[in-house]
Amino acid sequence: MSTRLSAQLADITTLHVDVIVNAANSSLLGGGGVDGAIHRAAGPDLLRECRDLGGCKTGDAALTRGYQLPARWVVHTVGPVWQDGDHGEPELLASCYQRSMQLAVEQQARTIAFPAISTGVYGYPIESATAIAIHSVGSFLNEDDTIEKVVFCCFSEPDLRVYQRLLAQATG
Ligand code: APR
Repeated sequence: MSTRLSAQLADITTLHVDVIVNAANSSLLGGGGVDGAIHRAAGPDLLRECRDLGGCKTGDAALTRGYQLPARWVVHTVGPVWQDGDHGEPELLASCYQRSMQLAVEQQARTIAFPAISTGVYGYPIESATAIAIHSVGSFLNEDDTIEKVVFCCFSEPDLRVYQRLLAQATG
């Protein structure tokens, strides 16, 4: 698991990976944050394809092409809105990572980049969200050898430091 997981500070729309994951909302019709950035960079065809998907439930994910993005595909996943941690948020967030990895493997993708799902507008505390991200992706990789690289794409130095600290702990 360890050698295939890394964190980096970047705008996810610039990454040359097979799949980038979008932190979308259940309409899949775009928004702000990373959702807005991905739609802007991919171009209008992305929204056209998303419209035909008919939405996505929290904790689930849906695949589209990447259009003008360097990435070939986009996996749109809907993270939970943070309340207090007692409304299924941890399980739903873990499901976002697992479902996204499943869809990437189904496309024979080799490399995938995740943003810090739910930690922006949806208010999920970065520390616990990062622990869930690393644990759910790490558990998936323990059972799968087709994915060669997973990048946790951080958009701020503080977030990157959390990922780097928890990755170091997880990989020993
Ligand atoms: N590249 C990588 N990460 C980014 C980028 C980018 N270009 N832009 C923002 N981020 C980071 C944020 O800093 C945060 O760490 O993505 C993480 C997720 O934040 P949001 O984009 O706000 O997503 P989320 O908290 O999951 O809320 C989803 O916001 O944009 C709307 O339509 C979206 O309703 C949905 C909600």
